[in-house]
Amino acid sequence: MISLYTDPRMIQEKDFPHEAPPHEKWRFLLNYALLAPSEYNVQPWLFQIHGKVVELYADADRHLSVVDSDQREMVIACSAAFLNLRIALRHFGYREETYVPSALGPPPHQLIAKIRMAEPFQCSEYDHLLFSAITRRTTNRHIFDERPIPAEILEQIEQRAAVGGCWVRSLQSDDLRTALEELIVEGDRQQWASPAFREELARWVRGRDAGFSDGLPAAARGKGSIAGTNNAFVVRTFDLWRAEAWKTRRLATGAPVLAVLGTISDTPGDWFAVGQTMERLLLYAYASGLQASFVNQPIELPGLRQRLNSIIHSTGYPQLILRVGYGPPASLTPRRTLADVLLEIQPEQEHGDFI
Ligand SMILES: Cc1cc2nc3c(=O)[nH]c(=O)nc-3n(C[C@H](O)[C@H](O)[C@H](O)COP(=O)(O)O)c2cc1C
Repeated sequence: MISLYTDPRMIQEKDFPHEAPPHEKWRFLLNYALLAPSEYNVQPWLFQIHGKVVELYADADRHLSVVDSDQREMVIACSAAFLNLRIALRHFGYREETYVPSALGPPPHQLIAKIRMAEPFQCSEYDHLLFSAITRRTTNRHIFDERPIPAEILEQIEQRAAVGGCWVRSLQSDDLRTALEELIVEGDRQQWASPAFREELARWVRGRDAGFSDGLPAAARGKGSIAGTNNAFVVRTFDLWRAEAWKTRRLATGAPVLAVLGTISDTPGDWFAVGQTMERLLLYAYASGLQASFVNQPIELPGLRQRLNSIIHSTGYPQLILRVGYGPPASLTPRRTLADVLLEIQPEQEHGDFI
């Protein structure tokens, strides 16, 4: 049986316990969920196993109350972890049933979704393809090559977003891109002007020492660092927006694709849809040899989010801004182990409402 203390980065497909009871299968599969992306790498998820069922909770202690005051990015991250779990379950030969509550539960552990292991089945080649990228996907903040992305890959990305209940606007014209870059720079300016923003970010900036299992390590921040520095004291104390904005603008300008992912409404259910769609798109991009990262500043500030809408002529709700392209590989970020995020393992209970 796999140890609860195994680093999820070390998970090996060949170790899947085919003959073990469901709760042991989940112990293995949950390691793939832990590799999902999350803002500042806070990993805001907790899990509970009940026999064939896994419950996913948001961990309110890891909620970023300044940069994500409405819990939107927290739900998106949890939902990305859920998608990884679904894909891993399918890859190892089981269909899933899911349940998503209509509203977020109360803190400290807010129920986000449940998944039940159903009957054995053969998943699609597409699911296998997505699975192959889970352990390799990483946020890549290097400058991308100018090499264009093949049209069929872009089409796939747009179609897959629509299937997931979201829309994608790819910003092609120079005018649109310039307008978006201005918003990103303005986002950096407003965020760094806030001591509360800097204080929160400083709590998640990691230095060069190894040994952290969460947060933003120096090596992962590439040439365009989110924090501009590895030092929490500096982040907390100085307004570094000019340096930060210069880097973010370079990242955005150089990306062959700059795309906004959005929804038609803005409820926790929409955020859940965004998380799964985002993760599907990221996994598909990585499986296709592409790299991606985020420049979400304008969406994290309500005034700029509205301005973004008018720039892209949308009446909906922008949720994420992604840059996609070809580039040098980026370092992998650390993860907490299952021992850190598993509330408990219990026998199966009666669960209704699955679909
Ligand atoms: C909802 C969400 C928002 C994010 N926003 C940003 C962002 O604005 N800028 C950025 O550089 N990275 C952003 N990230 C990426 C995280 O920093 C990254 O996922 C985390 O550090 C873990 O690293 P990994 O993606 O390489 O596993 C975001 C991730 C998520 C899920």
